[in-house]
Amino acid sequence: MNRIFKYIGKISLVAVLASGMFACTSDPNSPGVEYMPDMYRSPSYETYTKKGDLDSAAIYERLEGKGYNIETDAVEMAAIYNLLKGGNTSFLPAKGTVAEGFLPFPYANDTTGYAKAGRELKNPLHFSDTVLAQGKELFEIFCDHCHGAKGEGDGKMVQNDKFPAPPSYTAALKDLPEGQIFFTMHYGKGMMGSHASQISQKERWKIVYYVQSLQGKLAKPTASDSSSVAAPADSLQVKK
Ligand code: HEC
Repeated sequence: MNRIFKYIGKISLVAVLASGMFACTSDPNSPGVEYMPDMYRSPSYETYTKKGDLDSAAIYERLEGKGYNIETDAVEMAAIYNLLKGGNTSFLPAKGTVAEGFLPFPYANDTTGYAKAGRELKNPLHFSDTVLAQGKELFEIFCDHCHGAKGEGDGKMVQNDKFPAPPSYTAALKDLPEGQIFFTMHYGKGMMGSHASQISQKERWKIVYYVQSLQGKLAKPTASDSSSVAAPADSLQVKK
């Protein structure tokens, strides 16, 4: 019995020493023996690989590595090569692609578009306490620091002299139509930047309701939330 334990001891000592030898290499930059190198270095192209990093041999080699066979898949491989030969690994979305939650906005960023939006663009959301409360919350995140809690153009940024005062919703902008409030969030105006990439169209319409309440245009909703439910996102169409 003792002898068996001695044997096991010797074998494990040898195993430890051997693995120690394999683990070290003389090259300080070498990561050593890697278990499943594919997991560390993806055989597919890395996003945003520099232009020119890929040459034809590399592309074909990688395709072969992915199981393509030059004898049987030559046409397909050539097509992929043609697509990648410029070194592009990322492409613009196909023309006409619409990002989820961001519907096309058919008003040009000029005075004509602005005037048109003021006439035509109407809030597609049903008005309710919930929608108004959500609009208020969004306003406090995205607008309040410039426009001020009551929209009087006296937000923290203005008070701290970091930003010129925007006009007041209760004075100069009292009669600004909803479509133009939306338009300004979409494109920005003067010193105010566009908020189109940060706030979805649905969220912007919620903010519009809140801005209108600051303008003093909206009576407090009397209908209970159960009877006036916000329209689902897919019914958000720009009304002509
Ligand atoms: C960084 C400061 C800043 C932020 C943030 C900001 N605004 Fe403004 N906003 C301004 C300034 C400055 C103006 C005046 C622009 C002008 O008339 O040149 C303005 C103008 C406006 C107008 C009037 C546009 C018109 O047609 O005359 C509206 C409406 C408006 N903002 C709404 C918003 C809403 C809603 C938000 C939040 C989503 C917001 N703003 C966020 C600074 C800001």
